[in-house]
Amino acid sequence: MNRAPLTLLGIETSCDETAAAVVRLHRDGRGEILANVVRAQLDLHAAYGGVVPEIAARAHVDLLDPAIKQAMAEASLNFNDLDAAAAAAGPGLIGGVIVGLTTAKAIALGSGKAFVAVNHLEAHALSPGLTDDVQPPYLLLLVSGGHTQLLVVNDLGSYTRLGTTLDDALGEAFDKAAKLLGLGYPGGPEVERHAALGEPNILLPRPMAGRPEPHFSLAGLKTALRQEAMARTPLSDKDVADLCASFQEAVGDVVRDRVMRAMTLFEDRMPEGMALTLVAAGGVAANGPLRAVLGEIAAERGYRLVVPPPALCTDNAAMIAWAGAQRLARGFTDDMGAPARARWPLDPEAPPALGAGVKA
Ligand code: KG4
Ligand code: ZN
Repeated sequence: MNRAPLTLLGIETSCDETAAAVVRLHRDGRGEILANVVRAQLDLHAAYGGVVPEIAARAHVDLLDPAIKQAMAEASLNFNDLDAAAAAAGPGLIGGVIVGLTTAKAIALGSGKAFVAVNHLEAHALSPGLTDDVQPPYLLLLVSGGHTQLLVVNDLGSYTRLGTTLDDALGEAFDKAAKLLGLGYPGGPEVERHAALGEPNILLPRPMAGRPEPHFSLAGLKTALRQEAMARTPLSDKDVADLCASFQEAVGDVVRDRVMRAMTLFEDRMPEGMALTLVAAGGVAANGPLRAVLGEIAAERGYRLVVPPPALCTDNAAMIAWAGAQRLARGFTDDMGAPARARWPLDPEAPPALGAGVKA
């Protein structure tokens, strides 16, 4: 690459994190985070055990301007120093997406800079490039509160979906598990914390294990957990810890089985002798035991494993700015008509998951 460094403001408002960041893409392709501000709305949604879209959208309106000011101040820059403003244009909760998208457009228009509409999922997919030298093609496990997918990242803007979930996303399953065990929101970190105190001694199903297509199904696991919890009510602290440990172990086994299946499909697509890379991204990739499972299978199958640090796995705006910079470097910008999208699949050509041999 031979061009001037690019400096972008990134904005993320597609779920319940209000985030603004400033990132520089250096001439040599390296990324540098100049500021990364995340204002979680946890306390606003905790009482409901999940994100309330209307509350999230209103909170983004209140929190976004101060977050942007803070990010620009930490980066010691003003809008004139930017090359572009980028925002997550979807997929996500539409009210929140509109807040971030409109703000980024206004900043770009007002300061005569380029505007880039970023796919939130593409930002997760490209996030490892911020901290590690990792180039496509690679196999991606994207596991967040809203998405659970196995994808081949072919190139910027080119993805092949190998697997998806037939029902709940993995993060959603963690959140529901936590809720039914009376733990806080978001559920993932709570389940992980309690699991560390328990034994995985309760038998739970491993849905979809052994199926040829690397899809996921998590609703049955959650139901089985609910039944085991009800059978033990009132739950002692030890019961909760054991249920969390058993749930987390079941999830680890499912991920092991599904990712190994995807590895086989990925290898079939790659030229002989090519170095193989597995990337995990999204909030659930912050889970320590899950990262250990991925480390094991990567070692077993001869893959390099790249997982962004936890703060870049969960929703953040540095990944939005970074994806925006990658697009800008290729000359892709968007105009003021770029829409907010509730749905925006990375692989629009992917066949429906409910195919042969798969039951919902
Ligand atoms: O990527 P993310 O921040 O937001 C979405 O795009 O959804 O992911 C949030 C999800 C939540 O469901 C949360 O419970 C889960 O990631 N999560 C975890 C952990 N940290 C966050 N799940 C399991 N273990 C964790 N340590
Ligand atoms: Zn996300």
